[in-house]
Parts: sequence; structure tokens; C-alpha cells
Amino acid sequence: MRLEDIPEVMAIERRVFTPAWSSGIYRRELLANPWSHYRVVRSRGVGLPSILAYGGVWQMGDVAHIPTIATHPDYSGRHLGSYLLVHLLLIAAELGCTEVTLEVRVSNVRAIALYRRHGFVEVGRRPRYYSDNDEDALLMTRYGLDRRRLMAELTAVEATLAQIWLGQTTSP
Ligand SMILES: CC(C)(COP(=O)(O)OP(=O)(O)OC[C@H]1O[C@@H](n2cnc3c(N)ncnc32)[C@H](O)[C@@H]1OP(=O)(O)O)[C@@H](O)C(=O)NCCC(=O)NCCS
Repeated sequence: MRLEDIPEVMAIERRVFTPAWSSGIYRRELLANPWSHYRVVRSRGVGLPSILAYGGVWQMGDVAHIPTIATHPDYSGRHLGSYLLVHLLLIAAELGCTEVTLEVRVSNVRAIALYRRHGFVEVGRRPRYYSDNDEDALLMTRYGLDRRRLMAELTAVEATLAQIWLGQTTSP
């Protein structure tokens, strides 16, 4: 993710998150957080938004944390979230992290399904963690970050992505 991506990231952010992060948070993450690594999935297709998904990972010693991940709402369910998530896991593995943590709203069944499919397990619950509606957070961790296994996961996700997008007039 580059600074010039922030307006388009914000357009997605405002549609998918309540409350949304501000553009200032993204600026600080990119400019002033030496432990953060943000990525976007860019499209090359005519008529597609130029950014289809985005997310980040923080390195905190040998543990990494995913503070945010999102797919453009018009393109959800097409495995872009899986693709990005595995990339973020690979970044963490390459930084020497052994596990990745995250929090997710207990009502966010789509995200929870995504995380489970990629090896995250539930390790706890923070009551009333989200102040906008007093919702609990589920704490999830993916243990055992093995680079070779993650590369195999990425290859599998890429094959699914190709199946989904192949045959369409545009591809990511
Ligand atoms: C969670 C999120 C990142 C998933 O991204 P995505 O690109 O849709 O993810 P994927 O296509 O890889 O699929 C995720 C799984 O969610 C479910 N899912 C995805 N899209 C769906 C849809 N439109 N309808 C029903 N289920 C859907 C499915 O279980 C899917 O797996 P499957 O198709 O293999 O069974 C995306 O929904 C999103 O941006 N949500 C809003 C922001 C958010 O909640 N972020 C997570 C904060 S913790």
C-alpha cells in the first residue's frame, strides 16, 4: 500500500467498517509505524476498481498481529480475502514470526469462516471489546507459520482465484 492508495482504500473502508479508520490512521501506519506491513490487491482489469482488497500485519517480536483486512464489497466471496490473508501470513513467516493473532467481531461469520479455513483457532474472547455496539471480540491465532506450507496454501488459493476469474473479460 502506498500513500496515494489511501483515498481508494478509504472508499472501501467506509463501506465495510463501522467505525471506519481515518485516512490519518493509514498515513501514520505507512509513515510512522516501523512494524507495520500493508498490502493491497490491485486489479489490472478494465472497469474494475484499481484496489480490490487491502490489509496489514504488525510484527511484534515473534508474534504478528493482523489489525485490518478487507475486500471491496462488490467483489467479496471471490477468494481475494484468502489470497491477501495468506500473503500476510507469509510476510509474518518471513519476518520470523511463529504465530499470528487477530480480533474479530463474534457476529462476523464471514471473516471467522475465512480465518478458520486458514488455520486460525479461537483462543479467547474479549467481552464488549467494540465500543460502538458493545460487541464481544473473538481472539484467534494461527500457530505454526511454516513458509513451505504457506507457499503451498498460496498456490492453492491462486489456483482457485484463476478458476474464479478465468473466462471473465477482466481478471485481477
Ligand atoms: C472478511 C472478508 C475480508 C472476506 O473477504 P472475501 O474476499 O470475501 O473472502 P473469500 O472470498 O476468500 O471467502 C471467505 C469465505 O467467507 C464466506 N463468504 C465470502 N463471501 C461471501 C458471500 N458473498 N456470501 C456468503 N458467504 C461468503 C465463505 O465462507 C467464503 O469461503 P468459501 O467461498 O470458500 O466457502 C470480507 O468479507 C470483508 O472485507 N468484510 C468486511 C471487513 C471485515 O469484516 N474484515 C475482517 C475484520 S476482522
